[in-house]
Amino acid sequence: SGLATYDPGFTNTASCRSSVTYIDGDNGVLEYRGYPIEQLAEQSTFLEVAYLLIHGALPTEAEYKNWEHHITFHTYVHENVKSFMQGFRYDAHPMGMLMASVGALSTFYPESVNIHDADNRNIQIIRMIAKMPTLGAWAFRHAQGKPYVYPDNNLSYTANFLSMLFKMSETRYHPDERIVRALDTLLILHADHEQNASTNAVRSVGSTQVDPYSAVASGVGALFGPLHGGANEAVLRMLKRIGSVENIPAFIEGVKAGNERLMGFGHRVYKNYDPRAKLIKKACDDVFEVTGVNPLLKIAQELEKIALNDEYFVKRRLYPNVDFYSGLIYEALQFPPEMFTVLFAIGRTPGWLAQWLELTTDKDQKIARPKQIYTGARGQLYVPQSQRW
Ligand code: CMC
Repeated sequence: SGLATYDPGFTNTASCRSSVTYIDGDNGVLEYRGYPIEQLAEQSTFLEVAYLLIHGALPTEAEYKNWEHHITFHTYVHENVKSFMQGFRYDAHPMGMLMASVGALSTFYPESVNIHDADNRNIQIIRMIAKMPTLGAWAFRHAQGKPYVYPDNNLSYTANFLSMLFKMSETRYHPDERIVRALDTLLILHADHEQNASTNAVRSVGSTQVDPYSAVASGVGALFGPLHGGANEAVLRMLKRIGSVENIPAFIEGVKAGNERLMGFGHRVYKNYDPRAKLIKKACDDVFEVTGVNPLLKIAQELEKIALNDEYFVKRRLYPNVDFYSGLIYEALQFPPEMFTVLFAIGRTPGWLAQWLELTTDKDQKIARPKQIYTGARGQLYVPQSQRW
């Protein structure tokens, strides 16, 4: 029938059943496969969390070693992918390069279209988790006009990523362990967030039974948008514009008058606090111990203090979200703002793939094809151009 429920943005429609991630926004709870984010961020590693998301349970030691081994030895990409990336303009946005190159991988692994074959799905999942840091790091080097660095498979997943980003000589790059740990924690915090816009894009495109590279490329596209992945960049721009602690009261008055939003505050789901924000604050301290304190931190801390005690923000239940502090860390690590979303994409890849896997093995799933409420004309009569012009 023509009847449909009007629900723009599907804010009130469950599009799937899922056992990957649980969120309780009122109580600030985030769990991957039932494990609280705090425990995973403090005690696990990104690769183990990726295993948990994909396989639904924590690995045994043997399973973990096997997983780590396979991911480590799939970090290289075909040389023609490198040539393809080198063909981009010097000022190409790294997210555009990432989206295009992960999509291009489908042409290197045409068998990936056999999505009903479990072994085939597994190898593509391993490849994608392994290659995303390589593609992301190369997009970064491209923007800097520096030679691409090949993976160093003697390093851990995150240390290898840092090596591909920042290595400047022939000798092995040894990042500070505290930096490796902080970046690993940030990847864990971004690994999944149930049916957010990019995951919904992966599921929607994946529901056509296309290969997983094409589905994940769609997720990267959705994440590219400023309403999704771009908020931490906006926080940084805001902090720079405020410039010093003395300017904060006037800025806050402007926010309260409705002139602009306090970026990095508020969340559609979390209405008491964003559990990821607390954990990021801790990572901030660890990174600044190595890099020296980002001078914008003072402004951020003072803003937070004032906002948390101001009736405007309290009444509207506005608290710092995941993006409030992450940009400060990324900047301290020498990432330009365009790279922030690439880091998000690398972290979110296991989540996208876990949700894609769930979709492809769920018998109840159908091709995503929402209804609409039609508001246009009906039954028009076509008048030939000779009579209209
Ligand atoms: N600064 C000032 N006022 C705000 C803010 C803010 N950051 N966020 C919401 N409000 C006010 C808003 O003006 C409204 O006030 P009133 O009732 O007087 O009209 C009220 O709070 C409710 O706002 P809303 O827009 O209905 O809330 P929402 O749940 O639709 O929006 C949000 C959530 C995240 C889009 C919004 O809080 C926002 O724009 N925050 C700033 C951008 C940001 O930090 N985004 C990152 C989100 S976390 C990333 C992720 O998880 O992917």
